[in-house]
Amino acid sequence: MQASAQLVVPGASHASALPIRMRSRDPRVQMPPLGTAIPDFEALALIERWIDHADAACAPSADRLYREGDRDRNIQPCAACHGSGGRGRETNEDPMLRGQHAVYTTRQLTAYAARTRYRGSRSLAEDAPGADAMQAAVEKLTREEIGALSACLQRLL
Ligand code: HEC
Repeated sequence: MQASAQLVVPGASHASALPIRMRSRDPRVQMPPLGTAIPDFEALALIERWIDHADAACAPSADRLYREGDRDRNIQPCAACHGSGGRGRETNEDPMLRGQHAVYTTRQLTAYAARTRYRGSRSLAEDAPGADAMQAAVEKLTREEIGALSACLQRLL
């Protein structure tokens, strides 16, 4: 299990660290860490029901950023290229983003922002013609914004 896994992913107990830790008896993962050989299935069922019925909507600020960008900071809307539902546009090579694991998306956005996704590439213009626009779109985002956007995209936005 990833150390960075989200404790609770609203609407998705299977992707939430909390019930995964409650169910596991692997000593590196399990919660509580000591003294139990059997998971508390009653508590687990309750927690999973709570998570699965939790509101899966995006944080409003991340949703706004995706759809409208931020004019004050000169950030283009992600939706302008990736589409309002995150399906991308095949003809423009704007990739599909919806449903992607937040851990992966966060890593890509962080790499674009730091201009390290294609480090060592012979020619960015040839290998990834859209990458310049992507870098410009994300370099002004904060870590928190990248995390919130990634979580939204995993939940289909
Ligand atoms: C001007 C168009 C444009 C805008 C605006 C834009 N993107 Fe992109 N995005 C692209 C293109 C083109 C690529 C593919 C670039 C490449 O080949 O590396 C991409 C790649 C990505 C990837 C990598 C996907 C993968 O599978 O590795 C993510 C994640 C992403 N964009 C998220 C965003 C988010 C979030 C925003 C808004 C903050 C945004 N993009 C704004 C055009 C854009």
